[in-house]
Amino acid sequence: MALRPLVAGNWKMNGSKKALEEIGAMAEGYDATLRGKVDLMICPPATLLQLAATSALGTRIAIGAQDCHTETTGAFTGDIAPDMLVESGATAVIVGHSERRQYHAETDALVAAKAFAAIRAGLTAIVCVGETRAEREAGKTLAVVGRQVQRSVPEDATPEAVVVAYEPVWAIGTGLTPTAADVAEVHALIRKKLIQRHGKQAAGIRILYGGSVKPSNAKELMAVANVDGALVGGASLKAADFLGIAAAY
Ligand code: G3P
Repeated sequence: MALRPLVAGNWKMNGSKKALEEIGAMAEGYDATLRGKVDLMICPPATLLQLAATSALGTRIAIGAQDCHTETTGAFTGDIAPDMLVESGATAVIVGHSERRQYHAETDALVAAKAFAAIRAGLTAIVCVGETRAEREAGKTLAVVGRQVQRSVPEDATPEAVVVAYEPVWAIGTGLTPTAADVAEVHALIRKKLIQRHGKQAAGIRILYGGSVKPSNAKELMAVANVDGALVGGASLKAADFLGIAAAY
């Protein structure tokens, strides 16, 4: 089943008010050609969410956040509740990015709890999974990703509420990408696991590929079975690159 693709940009800890001009440029390119074919989303740092949502107003480019807390309110200094993200104009949130798993010791259980809290607040949870280089070299990719999908995707996953992003850790920001065959194998496994646990409707859950996606490799990666879009880091910071990736569709 061909799903409407989503190309989402994760700005990570990059971007300033000036960078919001890129959203304007993305909107122009999006309107001209791509709107009928692909959904676009930008996930800026939390400090820019509200301004980004204002820049995106009327453009149909969605705005997402990069992380959220599991609670709705309370004494959690520095954290942001899902409802606060909604109030800032976000319609989605990335959870379990490998940089959160690595630098903030986030576990599968915490990622699932964050995704659950996000969905409860009305956000789409973009749940990230992916193996490290050592895990790939040890032949553990399918076992690791299968386990992450099983444990990080919350019980109430529906196509509206959840997107899964497969991001091999070794491919993030390195210029390296898995072969199309490797991507196909992992995405097929993710689809199988989702359907096993969440039923037939999980055929409609979008599975994104992320890790060194660029305009030059997007066509090949996006053509792989069960790849329903991309989660883009570095190449989402400039409108020309981001639109170049979306143009793979
Ligand atoms: O979440 C997107 C990301 O981790 C991929 O980053 O820079 O390799 O596209 P990049």
